[in-house]
Amino acid sequence: MRIDLITLFPGIFEGYLSESILKDAIERGLLDVRSHYMRQWANDKHNTMDDRPFGGGPGMVLKVDRVVPCVEEVRSYDANPGRLVMLTPQGRPLTQRVVEELAREERLILLCGRYEGFDQRVVDILRPDEISIGDYVLNGGEVAAMAIIDSVMRLIPGVLGDETSASLDSFSSGNRLLEEDQYTRPRVYRGLSAPDILLSGDHGLIEKWREINRKEKTFARRPDLLDDDPSEERGV
Ligand code: ADE
Repeated sequence: MRIDLITLFPGIFEGYLSESILKDAIERGLLDVRSHYMRQWANDKHNTMDDRPFGGGPGMVLKVDRVVPCVEEVRSYDANPGRLVMLTPQGRPLTQRVVEELAREERLILLCGRYEGFDQRVVDILRPDEISIGDYVLNGGEVAAMAIIDSVMRLIPGVLGDETSASLDSFSSGNRLLEEDQYTRPRVYRGLSAPDILLSGDHGLIEKWREINRKEKTFARRPDLLDDDPSEERGV
């Protein structure tokens, strides 16, 4: 999969892209991530990307005549125009279902905003898939773009060592339960013991315990996940 990042702060991604699973996936050619510095498309001598909002109000707005040519040029760098995703708190909520949808694409273009947001005509012209990672406001779309890369990458075949591990994740299709409690050595710590069943060697019993634990935990913490209709989760 190819991912193009469009941002005013490409440095934010540097550490993230050069560590752990992501670094590995890039080195193995499973993922091709390119970042594009949006300010390069500012064509005045002050490199202006934003301006005061018409009608007044706080903050600055990213200019349509900078952002649209930038996205159009980045799109043209590959024969596949890809899916354009705009990170914004006004977008549809990111869920595992949306992650699965994005993971089916061969190319994603992640457009990160800053300041008060984009001129509305950016949306009107480019018709991006607007996505939010939650009902809170970040300083910009970069952290949200990382959440997308992180979650999508796990679903690309070969990225995770064990192919089954992503399909067993909580929230993946066919699994709408939280994960069971996990334990490892030492068996007793500060008087707290790991459940004896997990050390019994009886795999049938262990699986039963895990299933009950998943259900009880989900019921207590996220009863909404037990609803039959997952359409709510899609935000439709
Ligand atoms: N930009 C600012 N806040 C955001 C959020 N919650 N999700 C996606 N992009 C954002």
